[in-house]
Amino acid sequence: MFEFLRRRKPGIGTLSVLGTDMHAHWLPGLDDGAPTVEDSLLLIRELTALGYQKLIATPHVMADLYRNSSADIRERLAITRQAVAAAGITVDLDAAAEYLIDEGFEAKVERKDLLTLPGNHVLVEYSFVSAPPSSEGVFFKLQSAGYVPILAHPERYRYYHDDFAAYRRLVERGVKLQVNLLSLTGYYGQSVKQVALQLIEQGLVSILGTDAHHPGHLEELRKLVGNGKFSGPIAKHKWDNGMLFR
Ligand SMILES: [Fe+2]
Repeated sequence: MFEFLRRRKPGIGTLSVLGTDMHAHWLPGLDDGAPTVEDSLLLIRELTALGYQKLIATPHVMADLYRNSSADIRERLAITRQAVAAAGITVDLDAAAEYLIDEGFEAKVERKDLLTLPGNHVLVEYSFVSAPPSSEGVFFKLQSAGYVPILAHPERYRYYHDDFAAYRRLVERGVKLQVNLLSLTGYYGQSVKQVALQLIEQGLVSILGTDAHHPGHLEELRKLVGNGKFSGPIAKHKWDNGMLFR
């Protein structure tokens, strides 16, 4: 069970430099990620083998498709922790959520019914079709309630690709940007890869996440590490992953 990988010393060339993965879908049966606890164990084993010391699951929460409550997510986390302990895997597990900014989200903010990443960070995503009409107001509401917003995979919102000022405005307003590691491999296409690299070059990105849903994503991540592509300035950069989410 990947013992040789687990013994590998932390350093450049593995994802251990990041410390914590704060965006993934390995909790079982909640969304389009792992369907069963067995699938969860597979993803958790492989993420741990890549060098992470802590994994935070972020199941989708959407008003229409994935109506996961905070209680549902906590319950699946408890089940998964038990299974991981029984399987003898050593890794720190936690859970938050990835909230789509939709008609149900503002009500959750008002009720303070949000599962947060450490430091009161809240992971949010936009639709891939169009930006939410009132995102600035939503971010303001979140911040006024004491939360720190993190926007998931900004590089995947193609409607922003020709509008870097929009990205910059978000950062200036205190929204942290989180790029997917898989974007760096070209997994989502060349334009997404280029925008991810440009955002990083321009210093707009604070956090890297796997957004791992299934074994195919893990295979891509292994390639990223295995062929040395996760190296150079990107690997050496001081990402906020470890610092914020210990
Ligand atoms: Fe995600």
